[in-house]
Amino acid sequence: MPKIRPANYSSLQKALHWIIALLIFYQITFVEYLEKMGEAFRSGGMPDTLTSILGNGHIVSGCTILALVLLRLWLRIKNGAPAEPEGTSPLMAKAATAAHHTFYLILLLAPLSGIAMYFLGFRQAGAIHHFMEPAFLLLITLHVGAALWHQFIIKDKLLQRMI
Ligand code: HEM
Ligand code: HEM
Repeated sequence: MPKIRPANYSSLQKALHWIIALLIFYQITFVEYLEKMGEAFRSGGMPDTLTSILGNGHIVSGCTILALVLLRLWLRIKNGAPAEPEGTSPLMAKAATAAHHTFYLILLLAPLSGIAMYFLGFRQAGAIHHFMEPAFLLLITLHVGAALWHQFIIKDKLLQRMI
């Protein structure tokens, strides 16, 4: 099947990229409120309002991420992605594709394992879910490092493709 190569990502694809990135930031930064909420219930008490809101926020935001990622994947398959900037070596192009595919994989695994653990009671899913934080932090570091490298060293305006 020939690869679809649009000139740019669509506005919706760009919006989804940044909304999902913000929600992932929330998931990792504020998950301690969900943990505090669980502790409060287990000790027979009630969590305070802020803990309840930010704790439940993990569940709501996580399910929202799943819906938005499914929409994003559908757009990605339907519209494709722009070709790599001129001068990209085949090895770097493969590395970028592999990183993006891994992102999509963990963007699905994180909410699905959360749902399996929280709503369906699969304890083993907790082990996968526990692994999500290091997986995201590693990929985000590589991804942002690559974006900054393109912006300031190669100066090929790659960042503009996502803005
Ligand atoms: C992309 C989406 C998500 C991300 C990135 C994410 C990330 C995380 C992280 C980093 C932790 C702490 C894990 C640890 O250190 O053990 C956690 C815990 C947890 N998450 Fe998620 N999560 C997501 C979606 C969800 C969803 C959709 C649910 C439920 C429907 C959920 C339920 C939980 C629960 C129950 C915990 C354990 C809290 C505790 O220890 O008391 N997560 N999540
Ligand atoms: C949790 C945070 C993030 C996630 C999950 C994420 C995920 C992704 C994914 C999956 C793609 C590939 C899009 C596709 O072809 O379908 C992408 C592209 C891109 N991202 Fe991110 N991203 C995140 C944060 C960031 C940040 C903070 C920056 C900027 C510093 C950034 C800059 C870019 C750029 C410039 C592209 C386009 C690359 C290209 O056209 O080849 N991303 N991102």
